[in-house]
This record gives sequence, structure tokens and C-alpha cells, in this order.
Amino acid sequence: MKIDHVAIAVNNLDQAVKQYQQALGIKEVEFETVESEGVRVAILHLKDSRIELMEATRDDSPIKKFLATRGEGLHHIALETDAIEGEVTRMKECGVRFLGDIRSGSRGTKVAFIHPKSLSGVLAELCSHPK
Ligand code: CO
Repeated sequence: MKIDHVAIAVNNLDQAVKQYQQALGIKEVEFETVESEGVRVAILHLKDSRIELMEATRDDSPIKKFLATRGEGLHHIALETDAIEGEVTRMKECGVRFLGDIRSGSRGTKVAFIHPKSLSGVLAELCSHPK
């Protein structure tokens, strides 16, 4: 397992991208809108992982609710595994709680979200990239 990305909820994506680019000295940024989740994402590539900045695209977006209650900041960490089905089964056997089932993420990934209560208050995404 390794950290695939860290996702941060922001109020203004373009502003946050500029701030992160300057602070981290990153030139290239990819943008992606995931309509099903109500988010627009900016992907900043680091050496072996990514930072994803996320803003809400509509009022019923989960990110909108997150920002309203908690403000800007860490939304989730994503842990990459080669075998998501096996990991989810193993984790459930040790009592880890999930938010919903394994589902399709962007670019052919499979993702599952671990309840923050199972990881000391941090929402975590398990993900597998297509082989
Ligand atoms: Co993510």
C-alpha cells in the first residue's frame, strides 16, 4: 500500500491552485470535473503521489457540505492497493467500517471509502488503478 493522493477541499479552486503551485514550485496541473461527485479537481503531481485540490460544482455536492461545516482543509487521504476487493474483505473482517461499496472512480480506478471513525477521524479512500 502507498499514499496515492491527498485531497484538500477548497473554496476557490483557481486561487488555491495558484497558491499551491507557488508554494510547492509545481508547473503542471491537470483539471478534471467529476459530475457524479459534484467536484472539480486540480491534480498536482509530486514525485510519487499527488495532491488533489477540490471545489464543489453545485450546491448539493458533498464538498459543499464539508466546506460549510469544517471549512477548507484535508478532506481525505487515498491509499493505493493492487487488490481492492481483497483489502476491503480483510478490513471488514477486522471491523473497519466503509461508506458504501467499491465503486468506479475517475480514469478506470476502483475506489472505496473508509469511515473516519475507523481511522482516528481521517476519511480514507482505498483505490486500485487499472492494470
Ligand atoms: Co480521492
